[in-house]
Amino acid sequence: MKTIDRSKPVMLTGATGYVAGWLVKKLLEAGLTVHAAVRDPDNTDKIAHLEELATHSSGNINYFKSDLLQEGSYARAMSGCELVFHTASPFISHVKNPKKELVEPAKLGTQNVLEQANETKSVKRVVLTSSCAAIYGDNSELEETPDGVFSEQNWNTTSSLEHQPYSYSKTIAERKAWEICQNQERWDLGVINPCMVMGPALNPRTTSSESINILKGLGDGTLKFGAPDIGFGVVDVRDVAEAHYQAAFTPEAQGRYITCGHNSSLLEMAQILHARYGEHYPIPKKALPKWLLMLIGPMVNKTMTRKYIHKNVNLPFKTNNSKSREELGVTYRPLEETMEEAFQVLIDNNII
Ligand SMILES: NC(=O)c1ccc[n+]([C@@H]2O[C@H](COP(=O)([O-])OP(=O)(O)OC[C@H]3O[C@@H](n4cnc5c(N)ncnc54)[C@H](OP(=O)(O)O)[C@@H]3O)[C@@H](O)[C@H]2O)c1
Repeated sequence: MKTIDRSKPVMLTGATGYVAGWLVKKLLEAGLTVHAAVRDPDNTDKIAHLEELATHSSGNINYFKSDLLQEGSYARAMSGCELVFHTASPFISHVKNPKKELVEPAKLGTQNVLEQANETKSVKRVVLTSSCAAIYGDNSELEETPDGVFSEQNWNTTSSLEHQPYSYSKTIAERKAWEICQNQERWDLGVINPCMVMGPALNPRTTSSESINILKGLGDGTLKFGAPDIGFGVVDVRDVAEAHYQAAFTPEAQGRYITCGHNSSLLEMAQILHARYGEHYPIPKKALPKWLLMLIGPMVNKTMTRKYIHKNVNLPFKTNNSKSREELGVTYRPLEETMEEAFQVLIDNNII
């Protein structure tokens, strides 16, 4: 990969997002000029935390009105940039029309941003926020892996518009990114594949990230009778920002990077919170039996289909984070710190 000139502006899509917030912070604290591509620069609530970060750092931030679905929409924001971070993509689970709400913004958005990189002669590197959702579809697939762990070599081949549509959207978006990258030679592509991101939100009130909805669900009584024991990888949002930053500025970095601090589960995440906050909040500490989930899951939650339950509940998730540790130098925070600091932000903001 090529060296990036830090005196040039860097562009970031989806700057208002939960994950992007900590990356913007890191870039501003490093004294960089950030071209923040956002859907609505006049929405002062959504950019308030970014303004605050810029005020307390040596870097600068400028906003550019851009939409993933509008062709040419990133031209002004990208102009003069050597480095582009593409983080924008909807991370929502309750959707009526998965094609329109998830797949089109993910795939067409990636195409739009990367074709703009082809048009913008200054661009040398793109760092894409993909997901572990592009690595695997269901926990049951772990059995088919040669070493019993998901790795950067794996691709999700089982998700679809009907089953795990968010995972499908991330898979086809990342595939599109590699396809566009391989048809040119000027810019390199680095891909970050985070598992479930947790940790303190800089924008807990304005993000619609599913991470925050899951965390809320653990504390607001939704799961007071028990949590489904679903294996998940969990990673701190600050460690994800670090991985993006290192993938951008480490000349040797290349390919995909699974960014996962802990092979964990929804139940373990709940139990950590229960130990610290269980006295005051209805946090689950027991697992919901699989047979009960099969019975009531599909009625209370559209995404909890019997197929999903069958292939994910009571099954572990396992991955290997050695590539991100060895090549990007990422060190992962303890899970307790991540979960507690994440939950405390919700309490401090009266969200829980
Ligand atoms: N959170 C996780 O656990 C996790 C794990 C792996 C990967 N990721 C990936 O991380 C990225 C950020 O997710 P997040 O959790 O931070 O969610 P988030 O807070 O909801 O951020 C999503 C961002 O995408 C932007 N966006 C959505 N649709 C758009 C459109 N049509 N045009 C322009 N921008 C659009 C949103 O802008 P607005 O503010 O205007 O809505 C927002 O900035 C996504 O690519 C997601 O797939 C997240």
